[in-house]
Amino acid sequence: MKKREVHIVGNWKMNQSLYEISQFFIEMSKMKMELKCKAWIAPQAIHIPILKEMAFTTGAIYIGAQNCSNQDSGALTGETSPASLADLGVEFVIIGHSERRTIFGEGNELLNEKVLAALKNNLKVIYCVGETLAERESDQTYKVIDEQLLVGLKNLPADKAHLLMIAYEPVWAIGTGKVASAEQAEEVHGYIRSKLTHRASETIILYGGSVKPDNIDALLRKENIDGALVGGASLKAQDFRQLCSIASVLM
Ligand code: 13P
Repeated sequence: MKKREVHIVGNWKMNQSLYEISQFFIEMSKMKMELKCKAWIAPQAIHIPILKEMAFTTGAIYIGAQNCSNQDSGALTGETSPASLADLGVEFVIIGHSERRTIFGEGNELLNEKVLAALKNNLKVIYCVGETLAERESDQTYKVIDEQLLVGLKNLPADKAHLLMIAYEPVWAIGTGKVASAEQAEEVHGYIRSKLTHRASETIILYGGSVKPDNIDALLRKENIDGALVGGASLKAQDFRQLCSIASVLM
């Protein structure tokens, strides 16, 4: 039995055509899941309304965003407002994914503004942290994570702390097939939990990086791993469903 609710979160990144999305939900509805874990999906922003509709008919799958602006409105061409996400009834937003940090140059200060903007709109936030391979090999893992937590979660309002979740995604494990061992991940998860200033023991901490049906069980059995943020293996209904079934057994 897990202490905290297990969450399986699919990060679809910039993938899935409309046809693939409809196939995904047709497959999901055939499988008649009895979900004990939480199943969440973050599609491309443009697909959120469609997914909300399809997910509603399939059952308890919550839909979120992969990113949002640090502002509610204004002259910010191409951005996604957290207020508009809340308006749409979006459940959560991923902030600080390593692809946002490295490809789009988002630093801890900006990410802190995004976290606060999303929380202000009562969106649940999955704040991502994690080290690169070079950082791990030069023993910088905890220093990098300290900084990501300290700056990224600065001025976190105590009354919104229940909306915050963390995802530990070692950059070297993302899309590489190199999953962190359950022991490696647990060590960092425990460390992250020890650094949280509000609701540390209740906060959901997800692991992300090459999670697949054949490696999730060992990860989820660790005390401080409360679920997974899954890229590739969340795109196919069969795999996503299998991840959810394995998680449900542990609940
Ligand atoms: P993969 O599961 O494809 O390694 O991606 C992980 C990830 O980036 C989830 O946010």
